Amino acid sequence: MLVFLLLILATAARDLCPTRCRCNNEELQAFCANAALEVVPIQLNPEIRSIDLSDNKISTVHLTLNFYHNLIFLDLARNKIQTLGSSNFESQHNLKYLNLSSNDIEALSKDSFKGLRALVDLDLSFNKIDEIAKNAFRELHSLQILRLTGNQIISLEDDLLEPAKLLQELYLNSNQLLNVPKLAIRHCVKLKVVSFSQNLLISIDEDYLLALPELQTLELSSNVLNNLHPAALSGLSSLENLDLSDNNFTAVPTVSLTKLSKLKCLRLSGNFFTTVPPVAFRGLFQLKYLKLDRLELLTKIDSRALVDNINLEEIWLDDNIALETLPTRLFHGNPKITHISVRNCKLTTLEVSHYPLDQLKWLKLGGNPLTCNCSILWLWRLVQIQKKRHLSNHSATNDLMIDADDIICDGPEPLTGSLLADTTESQVGCSIGRLAAVCAVGSTLILLTIVVVFLYCGPLKKRARKKNPQQSSHHHRSRSQNVDEEIHHYEDPMASKYVISPPLIGEYKTLPHWEPYTKENSDFCAHQYNDPSHNARPHIVYV
Ligand SMILES: *[C@@H]1O[C@H](CO)[C@@H](O)[C@H](O)[C@H]1NC(C)=O
Ligand SMILES: *[C@@H]1O[C@H](CO)[C@@H](O)[C@H](O)[C@H]1NC(C)=O
Ligand SMILES: *[C@@H]1O[C@H](CO)[C@@H](O)[C@H](O)[C@H]1NC(C)=O
Ligand SMILES: *[C@@H]1O[C@H](CO)[C@@H](O)[C@H](O)[C@H]1NC(C)=O
Repeated sequence: MLVFLLLILATAARDLCPTRCRCNNEELQAFCANAALEVVPIQLNPEIRSIDLSDNKISTVHLTLNFYHNLIFLDLARNKIQTLGSSNFESQHNLKYLNLSSNDIEALSKDSFKGLRALVDLDLSFNKIDEIAKNAFRELHSLQILRLTGNQIISLEDDLLEPAKLLQELYLNSNQLLNVPKLAIRHCVKLKVVSFSQNLLISIDEDYLLALPELQTLELSSNVLNNLHPAALSGLSSLENLDLSDNNFTAVPTVSLTKLSKLKCLRLSGNFFTTVPPVAFRGLFQLKYLKLDRLELLTKIDSRALVDNINLEEIWLDDNIALETLPTRLFHGNPKITHISVRNCKLTTLEVSHYPLDQLKWLKLGGNPLTCNCSILWLWRLVQIQKKRHLSNHSATNDLMIDADDIICDGPEPLTGSLLADTTESQVGCSIGRLAAVCAVGSTLILLTIVVVFLYCGPLKKRARKKNPQQSSHHHRSRSQNVDEEIHHYEDPMASKYVISPPLIGEYKTLPHWEPYTKENSDFCAHQYNDPSHNARPHIVYV
């Protein structure tokens, strides 16, 4: 009888769920998000494995978690916790995921995380942490991801993360670090992703060289870096993504970069380079994606700047507001380039030979003060083809796309302000009055010359052989050849080898559907931690 009663009681307890929560007793989960709770509810199923307590008003975890020994997942994000106290997680030997982001935690003490031996992912982002005791992480032997984004950390104690030898991802962005915390993380040789973005780093000098053999992604954007030791990055032999955007570099740190033989993606946006010198990215043979945008002072790119980057696929040169020209043959060493973006610069004209049109998939040129004259007739033709495709609904993927909606003429006078796509060939083309006439005359002359040469040269030669060599006829012939060449030269600027003159167009490419190009087509330097699946709630598997 008593046993029976106890059983009933136990079953009742099992089914208890505070009114503001939603419980799933099969999966042993409780959802109490946004429930105006001020304390951790203590009447949940003691076997519970997952509790979501985000968006409440909980201010302390003191003595409240001891009721639940089987927790694997605990979300306390967006509460009002000011201190974690001491040993409050001591019974949580199974806890793997702990989210404490967006609270008011100021310090982590020696025993704050005592007992969390299974913890894999710890989120402490957006608190007010400025002090972390030397031993605070001493039991976190399983930790793989540590998020400290958005705190007030100036430095980390030496060997702070020594116990976390399995750490793979460390986020220290948006803090006040003055130096790379080399001594705190030196034992974390499994690190794959590290972010020090949005700190106060000025330089990485000899004392702070990192040696992380498995590091793939290093974020150093939005600091005030102006100096990298030549060996600053040489201990990062696996590095694939490097973000040095929005720093104070006045020159491309070529020497520091050159050892990064696996680098795929490099961002240098928002620095203070005035030039990109020859072979600026020396030795970066695997480089695929290069961001060189928002360089306000950039006026010159050397035509040999990219010669080492034989695998380059995409380059962004947008918003370089002082850049008036691109060197010819800039992309000649980049046989794989498919995406070139030079939006919002100061280009007034574009030479067709700048762009390897036969392999490009994206060409973005909007926002430049282009003079819509005969020099960009090639572009006009490409835009018209694209427009026609759009109107006739012929869409083909995999072909050249141009941001035609944003290509606006800044001259000559009558065309100022109009869309290149809306202009007519005669408006953009070489003025009929002059060039066309000259061309017509030229072609007639060529024809005449050829006729003359073929009809009369033979007989003349024969005659010449009979008589003495005739100086005058020879003279006449070479002069006509000269005219011939001149005419060809005259046509050449717009008839270079890439020119898309009507007969070539068909041969060359079918242009795709004319769509307003997708916002930022894609950011291929996609960093591991930008992957949405990483931010998603961990999927708990019960065994
Ligand atoms: C970094 O550059 C900014 C903008 O030019 C300047 O205001 C700041 O003083 C520079 N900081 C350092 C540390 O060089
Ligand atoms: C077209 O305009 C550009 C920029 O003003 C100029 O450099 C170029 O010589 C012009 N081309 C012709 C054929 O007039
Ligand atoms: C183009 O395709 C869209 C839908 O795909 C259709 O609504 C439209 O009528 C088509 N236009 C022409 C000209 O075929
Ligand atoms: C922690 O919670 C915050 C706020 O809900 C969320 O943005 C963040 O992605 C969570 N962290 C993890 C690791 O899931």
